[in-house]
Amino acid sequence: MEQPYHFGSPVEPLYFCDRTDELGVLTARMTGGIHVFVLSPRRYGKTSLIRRSIAKVQREGGRCAFANLLFVTNEVELATTILRAVADCVLGPVGRSTHSLESFLRGLRVTPRISLAQDGSVAFGFDAAVASASWSDIVGDALKLLREAGGRRPSVLVLDEFQAVAHIGRHGLGGAFKALADEATRTSIVFSGSHLTTMEKLTKGAGAPLHGMGETIVLDVIPEGAMSAYLQRRAKSHGKQLDRATARLVYEAADRVPNYVQQLALSAYEAAGRSRSITETDVTRGFVTVVEHNASSYAQQFEDLGGSPVQQRVLKQLVRAPTASVYSKAFLDSVVVANANAVTTALRALDARELVTRRGRLWDIADPFFRRWLLHELG
Ligand SMILES: Nc1ncnc2c1ncn2[C@@H]1O[C@H](COP(=O)(O)OP(=O)(O)O)[C@@H](O)[C@H]1O
Ligand SMILES: [Mg+2]
Repeated sequence: MEQPYHFGSPVEPLYFCDRTDELGVLTARMTGGIHVFVLSPRRYGKTSLIRRSIAKVQREGGRCAFANLLFVTNEVELATTILRAVADCVLGPVGRSTHSLESFLRGLRVTPRISLAQDGSVAFGFDAAVASASWSDIVGDALKLLREAGGRRPSVLVLDEFQAVAHIGRHGLGGAFKALADEATRTSIVFSGSHLTTMEKLTKGAGAPLHGMGETIVLDVIPEGAMSAYLQRRAKSHGKQLDRATARLVYEAADRVPNYVQQLALSAYEAAGRSRSITETDVTRGFVTVVEHNASSYAQQFEDLGGSPVQQRVLKQLVRAPTASVYSKAFLDSVVVANANAVTTALRALDARELVTRRGRLWDIADPFFRRWLLHELG
């Protein structure tokens, strides 16, 4: 049977609530050929939102290519991943459309090796030396092919997990993407990414390579009213009562982060067992269960920081007291470092490991269950 709640991966419409404004803006920009930056910490719902928007744009006849850059480590992989996404969108499964594969290939200045994946989609390979020198030609050609396939209809290229490109090459690839985005005047490129510090460096402020190139959507948490109503509705559809105060408790205890709210709601639902309602006690028990299930992986994550005692001390300090003043003398003293640079380095590393996050100006532990575990361990 389907579950009452879902967490851990992008959600289908059944598990999706609110985001009405964001959905409206995103689809309007996509169909209008305007670039968009979608920013939030991890697990706030970027990919879910983008998928919904894609579905809407496609229903209206638009062409949308979706590339996940998370596993991309160099220029060649980047170009290959984007080209593949465009081919999936433009060609679909091969068989019926071999002649369009030919014309697709004619549109590429750098000739790839072709292979067919099991699902019938086309995969590309490039000579590494050639592709690393001309990766932006490959991406530029892919954008042009996408545009042409769209005809007069909207065309969209989504680059999910875009923060990955910040770490490619010696200076990151932000500048190269500015040139590509400038060229793509009628295609909307959606740059979506977490690691706010990284994404902001690419997009915000005068020196940022992608500054001012499109509309920025910053995803915040889902408001309590909408999220609680969703939690109540789903509980009811599974035969359980969840009153508003308890729904709110789930929301707050999970730090309001959509992913953790759904995770805690599911655990509380399970803790309720056969009972007809989900109570405060179930929420408490549900929380403990999540912490217990993850305890060994939390311990491992903390141990993995062993090579960097500064990171461990920053983490312990933030567990006790989230703060915006990470460069204050008091904070530097509490984590026993001589200067602010050491804190910057530690926060960047902890952010990359998803252990800490910035909520507004506040540096905090990213995962409420991990926070509870560490607090408990620290006694
Ligand atoms: N609109 C939404 N309504 C309810 N829950 C959501 C919504 N968006 C995201 N979530 C929750 O967050 C989780 C992660 O969503 P995802 O789209 O993968 O986030 P991101 O791409 O920002 O990391 C989902 O599994 C779900 O539990
Ligand atoms: Mg995502």
